[in-house]
This record gives sequence, C-alpha cells and structure tokens, in this order.
Amino acid sequence: MRKKLLVLISILMIGLLAFTACETKTAPEGGDAPAGDLPLIGVTIYKYDDNFMSFVRRNIEKNAEGKANLIMNDSQNDQAKQNDQVDTMISKGVTALAINLVDPQAASAIIAKAQAADLPVIFFNKEPSAADLNSYEKAWYVGTTSAESGVMEGQIVVDAWKAHPEWDKNGDGIIQYVLLKGEPGHPDAEARTTFVIQTVNEAGIQTEELELQTGMWDSAKAKDLMDNWYAKHGDAIEFVIANNDAMALGAIASLKANGFFGADGKFMPVVGVDAIPDALAAIKNGELVGSVLNDAANQGLATFELALNAALGNDPLAGTKWTFDANKSVRVPYVGITLENIQIAEDSYAE
Ligand code: GAL
Ligand code: CA
Repeated sequence: MRKKLLVLISILMIGLLAFTACETKTAPEGGDAPAGDLPLIGVTIYKYDDNFMSFVRRNIEKNAEGKANLIMNDSQNDQAKQNDQVDTMISKGVTALAINLVDPQAASAIIAKAQAADLPVIFFNKEPSAADLNSYEKAWYVGTTSAESGVMEGQIVVDAWKAHPEWDKNGDGIIQYVLLKGEPGHPDAEARTTFVIQTVNEAGIQTEELELQTGMWDSAKAKDLMDNWYAKHGDAIEFVIANNDAMALGAIASLKANGFFGADGKFMPVVGVDAIPDALAAIKNGELVGSVLNDAANQGLATFELALNAALGNDPLAGTKWTFDANKSVRVPYVGITLENIQIAEDSYAE
C-alpha cells in the first residue's frame, strides 16, 4: 500500500515538473547525432497567454528543430517565477539563455545569475535598459525600435483620417480619440503611445484625448475598457488607437456589441500593432483600419540564431544576416500594414 502511494506521488511530481518546464527534445537532422549532443538552450516567455508572443515562441521552436534542445518556460507573468526558472535551467546545464523578461526592469537579476554561471544571455521582446545590457559582455538584445511602430501607426491614422472627412463626427477638425495602452513601463507601450499621437499632430491634425488607460496588451481587458468608454462618451469617440492588435480586437468586440460594423453601417475607426492573423482578418472585413507588422518570424529567428551561436561559444552574429546597433541589439524593422499591402504580413505569419 505504502509502495503504491510512493509510486503515485512520484508520478504526480514528474507530471508537475513536466508541466512547469516542458523540455522540447527535437530529433537531429539526418539522424546521425543523438539528440543529446545538441546544445541545450533555456528559454522563457513572459506569459504563454499573450497573442503576439505565442508566434515568437513558435518561431523559436521551429528554428530549433534539429539544431538545439530547448527548455521552454511559461513565466506566467510572474518575475519571481521566472527567476526560479532561470535557476532551474542553469542547474540543468543549459549553455545559453534566451529570456523574454516579465518585468523589463528585472534584467539585472537575470544577468547576475547568468554571469555567476558564465552563461550568455539573449533578451528578447522586452528591452532591458542600456545600462543593464552594458553591465555584462555576454548579454544582448533582439527586438525592434519601439518608436518606429508608433510613427507607422500614426501615419496610418493620418492617411485614413484625411481620406474620410466624415469620421470627424462633430466637424471640429480634431480627432477625439481613446487610447488602449500596453503594459506601463514597457518600452513598446511607452513609445507607441507617445509617437502615434506625435505623428498625427506633426501632420497638422489636432487631437483630443478622451481616455487613456492600460489594457495590459490583453483583449478581454480592452473590451471592458471600451465598454465603459462607449457608455460614457458614446459617439463623441472618433478613433480607437490601440498599442497592439489583441486590444484593438477587444475594442472591436465591444463596439460590435454596441451595434458597430453591422448591417446599419455604423462605423468606428480602430488601429493596432502586431499584424497578427486575427487582425489581418479584421482588416480584410473592414473592422480594422490598419496595423503595424511586428515581425514575429524574424524576431524568433534572430533570437534563436544568436542563442545558438552563443551556446556554441561563437560570436553571436556568426553566419547570420543580423547586425548590432550601438547598444548590442538586433532591431527587426516594423512595416505599416493596410489592405493594400496586407500580403507582406500574411507572408510573414504564414507557417
Ligand atoms: C509587444 C507586442 C504586444 C505584446 C508585448 C509583450 O511587442 O506588440 O502585443 O506581445 O510585446 O511584451
Ligand atoms: Ca472631431
């Protein structure tokens, strides 16, 4: 009886371990070397439950096939949990780390762990401060130039507004907008919020902010905000600007429940960033004015290639098409997406 209980407990514990850190053993190409000979790379994603990051993750996994074994972790939006995951991966013998921070300010804690184990670390998507990156010679970043996405989103707003004088519902020449912000303190959220409005203003269009709150990149949170804002402001809202597509789609869901995008032709312009497949579908059916391609395919590829090189003790850029800026960072370009050039985003997200 006691033995049976022990067996049961160990099965449960193995199950639990497998649940918290799932190790992807990939078969080597050609099958000549056993999978165990491939380098072991430790990866964290700040939370699996993030639309855009699920595409980056898939691209890292796809590129690792036959080239490396990954320990892939869901940090569940908990920095303390991520720190523990990094300790566990180091004790399992990873030779490089690829870290999507939960808190962009937490890079120094991860760097301290990497440095103590003499391990290279590639941060991706959540940009650490320049001071943190420069504090350790084996730390690098893969991401984007955050401001670029705000400028491109702003340009989409400008072009669409100029083409549709009827969107100025109160006829005052000013865009009355609501803005769904991403995670406060996240470089992408801060830069997009600033630059989208700055770009519209610099094009000579005045703006009036009716609401600005964080929806934490999340569809459901954005839908709740939009429900409240529409109840409060109604048709005084002339534009919905979102820091990402997940939130733009949440706003669209709320607007639909309020009679928009239906048979009677009630319309509200909404813009987002990421150009994820669901957003591309919304552009095609006229519910989303445009988005900005956040290139998950190339960010996943660059993250993996740098991590693999680092794991093998090579120069992180060896044999790749990437270059570093002055701040040890690979910057994958954004592309503004509307119906006219939607193919670019569709190709990028095609599996
Ligand atoms: C941004 C992206 C958001 C969210 C965030 C997570 O680059 O646009 O949708 O995924 O990263 O850090
Ligand atoms: Ca107006």
